[in-house]
Amino acid sequence: MNTNVPASLYAQRRARLARQLGPNGIAVLPTAPEQQRNRDSDFLFRHDSYFYYLTGFTEPNAWLVVAGDGSSTLFCQPKDMEREIWDGLRLGAEAAPAALGVDAAHSIADLDARLPRLLENRDTVWFPFATHDGLEQRVAGWLGKVRARVRYGALCPGQQHDLCALLDEMRLFKDDKEQDLMRRAAAISARAHVRTMQACARMVREGKDVREHHLDAELMHEFRAAGSQYPAYASIVASGPNACVLHYRADAAPVRAGELVLIDAGCELDGYASDITRTFPANGKFTGPQRELYDLVLASQSAAVAATKPGARFTDPHEAVVKVLAQGMLDTGLLDRNKAGTLDDVIETRAYFQFYMHRTGHWLGMDVHDCGSYVEPGDTSAPSERKDPLSNETITNRPSRILRPGMVLTIEPGIYVRPAEGVPERYHNIGIRIEDDAIVNDGGCELITRGVPVEGGEIEALMRG
Ligand code: GLY
Ligand code: MN
Ligand code: MN
Repeated sequence: MNTNVPASLYAQRRARLARQLGPNGIAVLPTAPEQQRNRDSDFLFRHDSYFYYLTGFTEPNAWLVVAGDGSSTLFCQPKDMEREIWDGLRLGAEAAPAALGVDAAHSIADLDARLPRLLENRDTVWFPFATHDGLEQRVAGWLGKVRARVRYGALCPGQQHDLCALLDEMRLFKDDKEQDLMRRAAAISARAHVRTMQACARMVREGKDVREHHLDAELMHEFRAAGSQYPAYASIVASGPNACVLHYRADAAPVRAGELVLIDAGCELDGYASDITRTFPANGKFTGPQRELYDLVLASQSAAVAATKPGARFTDPHEAVVKVLAQGMLDTGLLDRNKAGTLDDVIETRAYFQFYMHRTGHWLGMDVHDCGSYVEPGDTSAPSERKDPLSNETITNRPSRILRPGMVLTIEPGIYVRPAEGVPERYHNIGIRIEDDAIVNDGGCELITRGVPVEGGEIEALMRG
């Protein structure tokens, strides 16, 4: 349980949800399942983010039921001396109402017996669609039991709606407490990047056999020492050409002077993610071609930051990045003007895709790729269609989401140069990404990850220190 956040905050969220369920609606939501790793070992348990958003409760085997009248019922693991000796303390149903502010709590063993009675005489059941294996069948089983009682006057809910639609929209806007937590997670991750850059330069200067996993260990040290529960996602520590593999993991490749290191790593703190990428020279000094491309990516990120403001569309920062990168690709000769044409041609044909093949950001929150629609809700203008010049597929474009204060997103342009015919050799195997986390505010956006320097000269200074 997160004791830094008062139970009343979760109660307020449940009340806000209840108001959207309709007076006769009811919502049913499990936490995440436990996952076996092998034989007697489980993966470390991580609660379901929707469930946690409404309860702050981190034990496995728990369900929440919220009714349209605002009442809430928790099902949780019963107190059990023997299991608690092995697995740790359980809150138990008796203590749950006072601890979590729910109106009632029962043992998880009673779930199947109690749910049909809770669903009876409601018109609509809300539960998350396509997120939990077997949930649809479980709900159908309970509704079957309700239906068996219609002869006695019970009403069986006739509608089922996706609970994610409501919770995604709530979670997309981070309240003050959430923003504070995300700032703290971001600050820890920034310190971890600083520590790792400095350790890398020191070890390389000392002539040590530095491997990617040594740098991963530095990140992990800072995360855990600061109280983060775990990394928000599998850390990417990619030396040299590995940086051109977008989903590379920290492995055992050597980290060599003269090469770049790309680190994409962020901690999770009390259920909230951070997500930072920095790219730096292993020995603390960029080569000419590395710095050229680094400064290009940084300039594209600055353009994206300027485009991240209320009223702008989610796609605006990406379009700003593409303009700067595409021009830079022509200027550096990564793209041959004689073949690729003008800036407009490069954008139109997506020729830049050879070196920049991902989007510029995503929502960030409890999940690193957080929930929330990327399309503006309620915008009924007709979607436009176009043929993608590379895949030849028809792409449907719906009006992109309008940015508003309280939304949190990443801004993460990059350039990845795989050796290929016609690509200047001096850039071969350079992979660079720069990623910061931004909270949209009234005037633009706040970058919460700048505790780690981003400017090339500042990175070199930090690594000399
Ligand atoms: N670290 C995952 C991402 O940047 O999207
Ligand atoms: Mn990201
Ligand atoms: Mn990332």
